[in-house]
Amino acid sequence: MQDFNGKVAVITGGASGVGRSLAFALGRRGAKIAVGDVDADAMAQVAADLAAENIEAIVEHCDVTSQDSLEALADAAVGKLGGLHLVFANAGIGAGETGAMWDYSEKDWQWTFNVNVWGVVNSIRVFMPRLVARGEPSHFVVTGSGNGAYTVLPDVPIYTATKAAVHTITENLHYQVQAGGLPVTVSALFPGPHVVDTGLFNSGRVRPEALKKEGVEGNESGINSVDDMKRMAAEFGIEIQTTHPDEVAEMAVRGLQQDAFWLLETTPETDDKIRARADMILNRTTPVPAALG
Ligand SMILES: NC(=O)c1ccc[n+]([C@@H]2O[C@H](COP(=O)([O-])OP(=O)(O)OC[C@H]3O[C@@H](n4cnc5c(N)ncnc54)[C@H](O)[C@@H]3O)[C@@H](O)[C@H]2O)c1
Repeated sequence: MQDFNGKVAVITGGASGVGRSLAFALGRRGAKIAVGDVDADAMAQVAADLAAENIEAIVEHCDVTSQDSLEALADAAVGKLGGLHLVFANAGIGAGETGAMWDYSEKDWQWTFNVNVWGVVNSIRVFMPRLVARGEPSHFVVTGSGNGAYTVLPDVPIYTATKAAVHTITENLHYQVQAGGLPVTVSALFPGPHVVDTGLFNSGRVRPEALKKEGVEGNESGINSVDDMKRMAAEFGIEIQTTHPDEVAEMAVRGLQQDAFWLLETTPETDDKIRARADMILNRTTPVPAALG
């Protein structure tokens, strides 16, 4: 899609981080934006900021773990903005798990799979039939993570497991759309190339009441922001570089303009990790943990 002017873009998790930057990147190119999110404060802020730039937008409460909630967002986008051209299944969380996985709270497993995996599945179930029925050129973009899609970082196993699932779902969606000759372009968006400075490391702010852990405030890992991560890594002599979410959104827009599947920017170090992983499998080498960053 070359021209975003007048197109309607739905963005789940669009009140913060990568989703918020996508809203502005597309809105500044003339797209109409439907943000769905669960964080009331961030929703009010993004609504005010989009309005201040005269970007036509709606900001709706939408919980991606509920198909009904996504149906309402889809209806609002079509009803209030007059179309449906780009869908970003972007909402995601990290539960901040730490320690041995057999000791993790079931609530951490449930919450992460509910949002990261079921959120994507629900988005596909709600939006794909609508995009197919409309029959116009459109995009369905899923935000995944290299951690799970092409590497296994050892620090957040639940998150990694969800993103591995998300990638296989996205790639299969692409195959099905191709096989059906449908006018929907499916893309896999990988925020990066470095850790992206967003609210992901403070996801606890939107943890549902029923999945809160008794007596636990914030992440058990002690990492509740990118700055915490930088500080902790520095103690081990590792310098963490970061990427601004606006850079991710611009990278995504460039890829969408080329109808690319991979919305992925890597560093030479990431490329080495991908090659090393492929070699490890081909050579049947015993896995050793890859470094973060
Ligand atoms: N930050 C990174 O380095 C990084 C790297 C790879 C992938 N990602 C992925 O990028 C995506 C966006 O995350 P981000 O980094 O911008 O974090 P973020 O916390 O800034 O944004 C995520 C948004 O999702 C919303 N959200 C959470 N639960 C929701 C739910 N149930 N329903 C609807 N919205 C919900 C949050 O309120 C928030 O606004 C996620 O899928 C994340 O896994 C991020």
